[in-house]
Amino acid sequence: MIKKGIILAGGKGTRMSPLTKAVNKQLLPIYDKPLIFYPLSILMLAKIKDILIVVNKGQLEQYKKILPDGKNLGIKINFIEQLRPRGLPDAFVLGEKFIGKSNVALILGDNFFYGQNLTSKLLNNVKLNRGAKIVLHKVQKPELYGVAKINKNNRILTIKEKPKKFLSDLAITGLYFFDNKVVEFSKKLKPSKRGEVEIVDLLNIYKSKKQLSADLIGRGGAWLDTGSIEDYYKTSSFVSAIENRQGFKIACIEEIALNNKWIKKKEIKNSIRFYGLCEYSNYLKKLI
Ligand code: DAU
Repeated sequence: MIKKGIILAGGKGTRMSPLTKAVNKQLLPIYDKPLIFYPLSILMLAKIKDILIVVNKGQLEQYKKILPDGKNLGIKINFIEQLRPRGLPDAFVLGEKFIGKSNVALILGDNFFYGQNLTSKLLNNVKLNRGAKIVLHKVQKPELYGVAKINKNNRILTIKEKPKKFLSDLAITGLYFFDNKVVEFSKKLKPSKRGEVEIVDLLNIYKSKKQLSADLIGRGGAWLDTGSIEDYYKTSSFVSAIENRQGFKIACIEEIALNNKWIKKKEIKNSIRFYGLCEYSNYLKKLI
């Protein structure tokens, strides 16, 4: 069972400069809330209450302004600074103390997931006891992502980071589930040519031990990209379309906490005071 989760929210966001010169990418808006709310909501939907957010050096104070400690959400939020983007598995080296003897989920701070059955899928994936699990989704441009080739029984045959030659159209999304060995394995990784430790190398260690499995998000689910400015706006439009049609918010972290029975009216009222007079607070008022 996985009860701890890490959000990797560092990085320099170079592809989105000048927007990201002063503000970290994950603090920029996706429609009506900061991007970081979306991956956080995914961990909360998976009933994970103990969360470590990895941020880049110099951004800690900014993050704490919007996510002070998790008290109003009934969860615990810890922060750690990453001095430079050393690669995704660095999360497990930095997070060694936080992880302790537990299993752990990792979500990339810029990943957006949405769809029916998402929560039940998440709750199923956090049942992991041994090995590692990745989540796959079909995309038109697999060369932009980590990619997995699988057989008819969903067994992983090959995984590769951003393959130039077509391998499969199944992208490896930025949501991963690991057993406790992940810390030991991550420490052993050597940086690749681009000077980073690679998630694919970590996953290949599990694969060589026949301990890597895959879950698929079908066409009814959405995994959207926030990698470029264009993708950022497309994701914002998606959230705007759904929210304005239904009147429900996507990734309202207080609503999820309330539904999970982690908080009561009092904490929602605290959050309303915290955010001040705004449309988001009006939504929170309607919840109670
Ligand atoms: O989004 C899914 C993809 O994410 C996977 O398909 C790829 O296999 C995986 O390598 C990753 O690819 P990206 O090229 O999108 O990774 P990027 O370097 O953009 O980092 C993703 C997020 O993690 C971003 O929000 C910044 C953060 N990050 C990244 C690195 C390398 C950190 O906080 N620290 C880091 O050291």
